[in-house]
Amino acid sequence: MPTTTTTHATTTTDAAVTGPTTMRAVTQRAYGSADVLSIGTIDRPTPTDDEVIVEVVAAGLDRGVWHVMTGLPYLIRLMGYGLRRPTNPVPGADVAGRVVAVGSAVTRFAPGDEVFGIANGSFAELATAEEAKLVAKPGNVTFEEAAVSAISGITALQALTTVGRAEAGQHVLVIGASGGVGSFAVQVAKALGATVTGVASAGKLDAVRSLGADHVIDYSTTAIDDGDRRYDLIVDTGGRNPLSRIRRALTPTGTLVIVGGEGGGRLTGGITRQLRAAALSLVVRQRLAFFVSSESLEYLEPLADHLADGSVVPAIGQRFTLDEVPAAIRAMEAGGLTGKAVIDVGR
Ligand SMILES: NC(=O)c1ccc[n+]([C@@H]2O[C@H](COP(=O)([O-])OP(=O)(O)OC[C@H]3O[C@@H](n4cnc5c(N)ncnc54)[C@H](OP(=O)(O)O)[C@@H]3O)[C@@H](O)[C@H]2O)c1
Repeated sequence: MPTTTTTHATTTTDAAVTGPTTMRAVTQRAYGSADVLSIGTIDRPTPTDDEVIVEVVAAGLDRGVWHVMTGLPYLIRLMGYGLRRPTNPVPGADVAGRVVAVGSAVTRFAPGDEVFGIANGSFAELATAEEAKLVAKPGNVTFEEAAVSAISGITALQALTTVGRAEAGQHVLVIGASGGVGSFAVQVAKALGATVTGVASAGKLDAVRSLGADHVIDYSTTAIDDGDRRYDLIVDTGGRNPLSRIRRALTPTGTLVIVGGEGGGRLTGGITRQLRAAALSLVVRQRLAFFVSSESLEYLEPLADHLADGSVVPAIGQRFTLDEVPAAIRAMEAGGLTGKAVIDVGR
């Protein structure tokens, strides 16, 4: 989650960013549906001391964009995104592109560097990012692939490693294997040596198999606790299965990692499910955990390594232009995306 506020200067004073003083961007001045988004021309951003300005080649779409656009659940408005309207008028976080300017305290990057990571407003020709949320783009990875990787990829890594403590030989169930986080989680789990079962809707099961899943479950016909298979680790990214059902699908000492899930209510997004899991975990043999992803180099760097060695290949399902961002978000709302959607911005 972004922790800083990006300002879009009313005058361009940064000599390092040459050329036009304006840029094309998606903006939103109020919380609401995709109807609140407009595409137009705004002033170029200028970096603070520890920020980098990235000329955006491609941006990634993730569920967080929808939450910040709508201001839902209301809980997120208390987390620095703006009480009445978005603090940052430019949506989008996942980014890949070229550095065009750096703040005075930035040491790791220089103009011309190819980078990817998490920005404050990536649905624009130029985006501002904290230096600590960017890494070098591996040469063998396309800008599109890099652009869809950071948020979902580091969340999947944390779910499986730090929180889930996955080990080779374990049976891992990924609920929501066709989605953003899930498509990375299937591949990271395979790279760690696990046997992976992916849960998704019927029309996306082939896509889940192509990620490397050993088994698949169609959630519309089969419950995760049907049959005899029990899992050492369950990574839960969708569907909001009751904890009782998830616990039946786990081994007696198995681990549940709740990443998230839509539809939990306008006020808190159903955070009580996560809190109940954590409380229950204190008194049962199974470990039931949730976490908020840490946006740091600790995970961005190993993610870049996975992309570089080909053990993780981002699953790009759909491509959109900057003008098509509202359509992309509507497609996400309708469940029409598979894997990650990319927004092509530049070249
Ligand atoms: N904890 C954190 O720090 C963190 C970080 C990132 C994201 N999140 C949250 O994690 C969740 C997943 O994010 P995402 O970007 O991966 O979303 P996504 O791309 O929309 O993926 C959602 C997945 O859930 C599946 N799903 C939907 N209904 C289901 C059901 N009834 N049973 C089983 N699976 C079902 C979808 O499958 P089909 O498409 O096949 O229907 C899809 O694979 C979101 O709620 C997001 O806000 C949390």
